[in-house]
Amino acid sequence: MTSASREWDSSAYHRLSGPQLSWGKKVLARVHLRGDETLLDAGCGSGRLTGELLEALPHGRVVGVDLSQNMLRTAREHLATRFGDRALWVAADLQDLPFVRAFDGIFSTAAFHWVLDHDKLFRSLYGALRPRGWLRAQCGGGPNLERLRKRTAVLAASPKYAPFLGGYAEPWTYSDAGTAAERLRRAGFVAVDTGLEPALTVLEDAGKYSEFVRTVILHRHLERIPDARLRGEFLAELTRQAAADDPPYSLDYWRLNLSGDVP
Ligand SMILES: C[S@@+](CC[C@H](N)C(=O)[O-])C[C@H]1O[C@@H](n2cnc3c(N)ncnc32)[C@H](O)[C@@H]1O
Repeated sequence: MTSASREWDSSAYHRLSGPQLSWGKKVLARVHLRGDETLLDAGCGSGRLTGELLEALPHGRVVGVDLSQNMLRTAREHLATRFGDRALWVAADLQDLPFVRAFDGIFSTAAFHWVLDHDKLFRSLYGALRPRGWLRAQCGGGPNLERLRKRTAVLAASPKYAPFLGGYAEPWTYSDAGTAAERLRRAGFVAVDTGLEPALTVLEDAGKYSEFVRTVILHRHLERIPDARLRGEFLAELTRQAAADDPPYSLDYWRLNLSGDVP
């Protein structure tokens, strides 16, 4: 993996990730905290949810882990003054975490679908938890973004883009609830509970749709197209198609909730 292929436009993500923040807050509302735990925010991104976690933990600590240095820098900039050394930042791959029995709980939102090998991911998370630790997470799953993904695949295979995107496999794993539950149990988790929920998201207009898709969804595809004009045309074509949707500029998001405990 090149460093470019793990990077994000973190300040744009921080500004645009309203949908991810509101989904994440709902996941957090279902987590019961004492307030003094040591937690891992797995794939913390620009730290908007890490900040919410820290607010709920007046005597605890959170380690935010992410593969992207840009994301970690943005998170640190936003949270260092507010939370001091109760927030720690570590650049690492979630599939290979440098922690053993270190956390009371793991929280994660909108990150696991960017990890391709979920068996490896769940084993790594399990190993980072203490006995009686817990995992409460949500990521994309099931038919997540099916409409946009089909259009993207058709466009990617067309003669104009095939030299760059022909044969490019999607950079996401979208599991169904049953498969995810099996994988969690295989990693050792008990009291496993998984489920899918729809999360249709409507963007205001063509400009907002295009910016969101470019920053949050299709950046890995776009970075494979070397020419800026062609990248713009790729995005413009998907935005033109989204104008005809009902409602226009809507994204057919589905979220997969995941929970499991360590005995
Ligand atoms: C869409 S962002 C979500 C950020 C944050 N959790 C939120 O809800 O706003 C996904 C994050 O997962 C991180 N990520 C993807 N694959 C990763 C991996 N294998 N290890 C660590 N972080 C990863 C990305 O760098 C990115 O910051």
